[in-house]
Amino acid sequence: MDTAVTLPLRPPVPEAPEAPLRVRPFLRAIRTNALTIWPKSAYREDYTIRNFLGRTNVLLNTPEAIHHVLVGNPGNFRRSPASIRILRPITGEGLLLSEGDTWKLQRRTVAPALGPRVMPMLARHIVASTKQAVAKLEATAGQPIDLLFTMQTLALDIAGRSMFSLEMDRFGAQMRAMLYEFSEKYSKPHLLDMLLPPSIPAPGDFGRARFKKRWMKLIETILSARLAEPQPDAPRDLFDLLRAARDPETGAGFSPIQLRDQVATLILAGHETTAVTLFWSLIMLAQAQEEQDWLAEEARTVAIEPETGHAAMASLIRARAVVNETMRLFPAAFTVVRETIARDRAGAVDLPPRSVVMIAPWVLHRHHALWQDPELFKPARFMPDQPAPARFSFMPFGAGPRICVGAQFATTEAVLVLAAMIGRFRVTRTDSRPVMPVGIVTTQPDHAANVVLTIRDAPAIVG
Ligand code: HEM
Repeated sequence: MDTAVTLPLRPPVPEAPEAPLRVRPFLRAIRTNALTIWPKSAYREDYTIRNFLGRTNVLLNTPEAIHHVLVGNPGNFRRSPASIRILRPITGEGLLLSEGDTWKLQRRTVAPALGPRVMPMLARHIVASTKQAVAKLEATAGQPIDLLFTMQTLALDIAGRSMFSLEMDRFGAQMRAMLYEFSEKYSKPHLLDMLLPPSIPAPGDFGRARFKKRWMKLIETILSARLAEPQPDAPRDLFDLLRAARDPETGAGFSPIQLRDQVATLILAGHETTAVTLFWSLIMLAQAQEEQDWLAEEARTVAIEPETGHAAMASLIRARAVVNETMRLFPAAFTVVRETIARDRAGAVDLPPRSVVMIAPWVLHRHHALWQDPELFKPARFMPDQPAPARFSFMPFGAGPRICVGAQFATTEAVLVLAAMIGRFRVTRTDSRPVMPVGIVTTQPDHAANVVLTIRDAPAIVG
């Protein structure tokens, strides 16, 4: 009798400190792995409050407090100086960092371009890119591949096609090199990045400003290539939609600079987050063969073609559950940070002006009061026959008016790519070195993990 029992996967994570970190270790942690800034107690308690360099610094875990900050009174919570400094060089004046009326205007103009009606068009681009990637991977099946690089390349190609209908062969390498440079040199906050208001330059801001010039030039070069293409009658990509977008109230469109910054924002916010989500999904499945076979069974019966991709989403229930479970354990945006403008109160916490308020999907999604076996990888918990997660306990895309504008696009992309990959290949690891998550801008792996893809038998596609 076979008595082998497969235990659920418990992916390794960096050790949380026993007690809140003092200033120096905190600053070191935030620059090397921000997932380690919260003490063990944060994963069990409602609030973690401390005084940090004269300011209140708080992590909120209760639905009332989170609701207040993100939904109830969001106008009183602005983006933190460090987020603005770090992201401005890449996103310019685009949606991610805008505030007040400018944000309102941008949001209502951009949101329809990423809304439900556009998903069939985006699914077409997603599937076209994925099919090409799968064909390339078939040619190297059986040999080790760098999984992170493979997913980053695919996600960038999808972003390029969805945004510009351009294959990214021409620009992909330069773009990746610049994003790597940005992540290595400019994305790790120093003390003054956090303390000084954005209007006063911190030492790191000069390098960031030089980087911004080069980055925006690259985006302008891509836009020129796109504008040189023949113009179709119907919109075929996000660029067409953004260019045609008009504020529903005033009828105003974006200026060329605003359009450029919006494109830069969507590329940054969109591609690395989805790439790491796909990486973590596949590396989890490589270590959980039972779940992988369970997903393959579904994926192999669903046709994933450019014209059917959008409709296929309704049948890919297991793929969606795997994506959700991956975003629970490895939320690409591991924390959402705000700074209080006027004195306020969130749940039981008093917030003086300029308090630093953190809502961390990384902590919430692993909180012992909110989840059963929080550290285990169990996609079945997201199947439709299971109870929905508690309010504000699962929020990979944030919440409230500033919820991720690309959430539907990201989910469509992650589900379709994952199903196409697992429908075609069995994914296995080449070694047993633990893959540890590291929080720097996004939740990344600590090393480029290799996997082997083996072609599964001919699929039995229906529909
Ligand atoms: C798995 C993938 C993704 C994750 C986990 C993610 C996560 C998030 C989160 C948590 C926020 C809220 C931040 C806050 O409140 O401070 C956000 C905002 C945003 N996301 Fe995403 N995102 C993803 C993919 C995308 C994609 C594909 C796009 C666009 C194509 C995108 C564009 C944006 C933009 C523009 C904002 C700012 C929205 C605003 O402030 O009004 N994201 N994202």
